[in-house]
Amino acid sequence: MSQSREELTTNNARHMWHPMAHPQAMMDSPPDIIAKGKDCIIWDVDGHKMLDGVGGLWSSNLGHSNQGVRDAVIAQMDELPFYNTFRGTTHVRAIELSTQLVELMKPEGVTAVMFSNGGSDAVEGALKIARQYWKVRGQGDRTKFVSLRQGYHGVHFGGMSVNGNSNFRRAYEPLLPGCFHVDTPWTYHNPFGEDNPEKLAELCVNMLEREFVFQGPDTIAAFIAEPVQGAGGVIVPPANYWPLVRALCDKYGILLIADEVVTGFGRTGQMFGTRLWGVNADIWCLAKGISSGYIPLGATAMTAKVTDVFNADKTGMAAVTHGYTYSAHPVAAAAALATIDQLVAQDIPGNAARVGAHLQARLRTFVDKFKVVGDVRGVGLMAGIEMVSDKAKRTPMTRSSDVPARVAKAAYRRGLMVRISGPNLILSPPLIITREEVDFMVDVLEASFTEVEST
Ligand SMILES: Cc1ncc(COP(=O)(O)O)c(C=O)c1O
Repeated sequence: MSQSREELTTNNARHMWHPMAHPQAMMDSPPDIIAKGKDCIIWDVDGHKMLDGVGGLWSSNLGHSNQGVRDAVIAQMDELPFYNTFRGTTHVRAIELSTQLVELMKPEGVTAVMFSNGGSDAVEGALKIARQYWKVRGQGDRTKFVSLRQGYHGVHFGGMSVNGNSNFRRAYEPLLPGCFHVDTPWTYHNPFGEDNPEKLAELCVNMLEREFVFQGPDTIAAFIAEPVQGAGGVIVPPANYWPLVRALCDKYGILLIADEVVTGFGRTGQMFGTRLWGVNADIWCLAKGISSGYIPLGATAMTAKVTDVFNADKTGMAAVTHGYTYSAHPVAAAAALATIDQLVAQDIPGNAARVGAHLQARLRTFVDKFKVVGDVRGVGLMAGIEMVSDKAKRTPMTRSSDVPARVAKAAYRRGLMVRISGPNLILSPPLIITREEVDFMVDVLEASFTEVEST
């Protein structure tokens, strides 16, 4: 059944509820309908060609319609489209992918992975494994989680409860009890008036320690954070933050969970975001770039510190009573194997680092050029441009301002897809993007901000 342009718009508004959107908004301001993609380019249903500044949604790391991933997916469809991995069965691709991930994460000390279907699942798995770890160790009081304001950890009840943005929680409260939030070291907006990044990081780690002590460290299962906060506005912590957090978690024996759903698989210019900071977590949450977004897949990766405790259990408490029909779906696993092969063989994180440095440097000039640009943040190929109504006071634009949407529309018209989240314009293009394509992206944004400021 092929539908006309008008039918697509109307039927979308009538029959489909979208993530993070009011159902009625789909009629008043219909979404862009994307029809085709190749490498860094996408076309909408009207044939309008654009550079994909969004990378699907921080996910299409190898770009669109990658031949290697396509071939692997089709071969897997022919060989074995589905089988489960519940106790008693497994399949070849699941074994191959777990082996490949453990090899890839050798520097992280990862010894085993648990598969799921996406980022929220990967977080849920991490939180459940953290609680179970303490029960297996005979410290069942350690059930609480501490996380960061502005953090985003997906939409399941666990992830939502550790999310640091109340907008995502209000409609679904009450949430998981025992979740506590502390300030993130965000130099541009912090209530302490501390603009020195290292000092701010120390202050925030002090407050984290106060929270640990206040709660009672022996009641806390884990601290969870993103190595670079993505959805919260691309907030890059000072370089000393993660090492200080690692030391603090060790001091109190608290597990450290790195949510790498966005940062994993090259986005920051490193294969994993924790490598930026020279520290290891105990548990990693992985999704999105793991399969270049081609087929939904999530993974929770664990170090020997965790797996040794589970493996040594003789009581039965360590049985993993968690998992999904589609955990390690063979087609998703095939997509991930082909993705990781290319990420490594072509040093895609290296490209993200080189081309990303150029992107960051060019974007930072916007702060001086444009009245509405308050801050530009990012690392590698993740960047955020924060729009402000009062630059001196660093007042972010509120939802009532149409400036962010107008900038995005102007960019779209000029051939660039970007994403607006609150006052932030967010860029997360495919990691195969070239320097020339980055220049196009920045030129379009420059023209778009100029247009919006002059009208
Ligand atoms: C850091 C982080 N964790 C978890 C998630 C949830 O992933 P998903 O939307 O695949 O459930 C996201 C999604 O953007 C994310 O950015």
